[in-house]
Amino acid sequence: MAIAVSAPATAFGAPTKTLDARLTAKLHRAGFTGRIESTLETRLGRQLDHRLANVGRFLWFDTITGLNDDNTCAGCHSPTNGFGDSQPIAIGIGNNGIVGPDRTGPRNMRHTPMVLNTAFFPKLMWNSRFASLSVNPFDNTAGFEFPAPEGTSLSGEPHLLDAQAFIPPTERTEVAGFAFRGNNDDIRAEVMHRLNQTEQYRRLFGEVFEPVRQGAPINYDMFARAIAEFEFTLTFANAPIDRYARGETGAMTRSEKRGALLFFGKAGCVGCHAVAGSSNEMFSDFREHAIGVPQLVPKVTNNEFDGEPENRDFGREEVSRRTADRYAFRTPSLRNVAVEAAFMHDGAFTSLAGAIRHHLDPFASLLAYNPVAQGLPSDLSGPISPTLPLLLQLDPRIASPPSLTRSEFRDLLAFVRDGLLDPRAKPGYLRQLVPESLPSGRPPLRFEFPPEPRLRH
Ligand code: HEC
Ligand code: HEC
Repeated sequence: MAIAVSAPATAFGAPTKTLDARLTAKLHRAGFTGRIESTLETRLGRQLDHRLANVGRFLWFDTITGLNDDNTCAGCHSPTNGFGDSQPIAIGIGNNGIVGPDRTGPRNMRHTPMVLNTAFFPKLMWNSRFASLSVNPFDNTAGFEFPAPEGTSLSGEPHLLDAQAFIPPTERTEVAGFAFRGNNDDIRAEVMHRLNQTEQYRRLFGEVFEPVRQGAPINYDMFARAIAEFEFTLTFANAPIDRYARGETGAMTRSEKRGALLFFGKAGCVGCHAVAGSSNEMFSDFREHAIGVPQLVPKVTNNEFDGEPENRDFGREEVSRRTADRYAFRTPSLRNVAVEAAFMHDGAFTSLAGAIRHHLDPFASLLAYNPVAQGLPSDLSGPISPTLPLLLQLDPRIASPPSLTRSEFRDLLAFVRDGLLDPRAKPGYLRQLVPESLPSGRPPLRFEFPPEPRLRH
């Protein structure tokens, strides 16, 4: 790649590298290539199967796999928000059938992350409780580790996302409900029973899986394949920063470029929102850090929170059982973060600027935090959990943050908001993926898409 390093001389005669030269050098040093998306099929060792992905898409939107009959992946991982939450904290069973700002029902415990680009995540969930032990989601040789009862029993699955797909249908408060009796395998068997009773699904799976065509039942591995394949097609990692790194210097504005320099430099963001090595250019180190995010306490929840009284989320400690890990959460990927409805593990911040500003002074941010001022739904705007314990756990890297001028902050925000956004993550594109009707014949969920931006002539 040709890099223009010729630069104007300063008044003192010393050459000042141009913005582009500095940024290009910085990205290079950080190990950022902008080519991660193009590695997907190589790392899978095959081409994507679009017919299989389409089966996964139907399943994603169909409540037939939710034994409570009122929720499915899309109720929480919504196309209105990058296949992430339309709410600050997820609402699972007992919802009102709406997916968007007007969704109501008992809360689960955490904000639903976007599934975009999860093909490249070596660890899943806010507390990293599903992990590929090789730190490579495409490689099962060291095993895929899940909490009990699954343990490492899902390690035969080809990719971490196939293994992950075994979990959601078994979650009582997400989709399964409490009426059905039995363990996780019983629930999975019941879900397969439902699919096998549905002519359309037998036909769709039969088009991809020869045994089903021959009369064999659809099994759970096939379900997992379809879900994972759909997720693989949601790899949207061609943001302005990627195009820029591949040599398209016009892909970012000057403000975004200055913001990128801060992100990879003085502002220290890349220290945790990492791009090198097993980060797979996802802007996460896939490690857990306590950064003092205010913890919302839902008025009505069907989950068990941590602590005494039960109004806290201990994060990574739930998995590691080490108190040092209390309040530590996996660094989220920042790709396409602008399409989220709310930020952090509990959606405590409703603006991207607020979420970034929190990092720059977590003490002040936490002490001044007011859920009402965030415009949170009324069932989340009551008192938050105690703040002192959060401050005592702060990661040293965040305890003495950089100070940025106002214009530096604007640049940083422009970079995170626009420089990391692949246009395919926007609701206008994703709404095309919502099926008009479902193979089960069930009514689709109601998505509240934002109004389409007016076309300018
Ligand atoms: C009730 C809401 C809800 C439903 C329904 C749901 N999820 Fe999730 N999902 C979540 C939440 C919340 C998390 C994060 C949980 C945590 O960290 O403890 C999550 C995490 C994930 C992740 C990991 C993302 C990451 O960044 O680590 C994947 C992948 C995923 N879900 C896939 C699915 C699939 C596939 C389905 C349907 C079969 C599904 N989910 C159904 C709420 C939901
Ligand atoms: C010490 C590690 C660390 C550093 C340094 C760091 N972050 Fe974070 N960041 C995190 C963690 C951990 C979270 C999630 C915390 C939680 O939910 O409790 C997070 C959350 C975020 C979010 C919300 C994302 C979402 O999906 O909800 C944004 C935006 C963000 N960081 C941007 C930045 C920027 C910009 C910088 C540089 C100024 C930065 N971060 C520096 C660890 C870090």
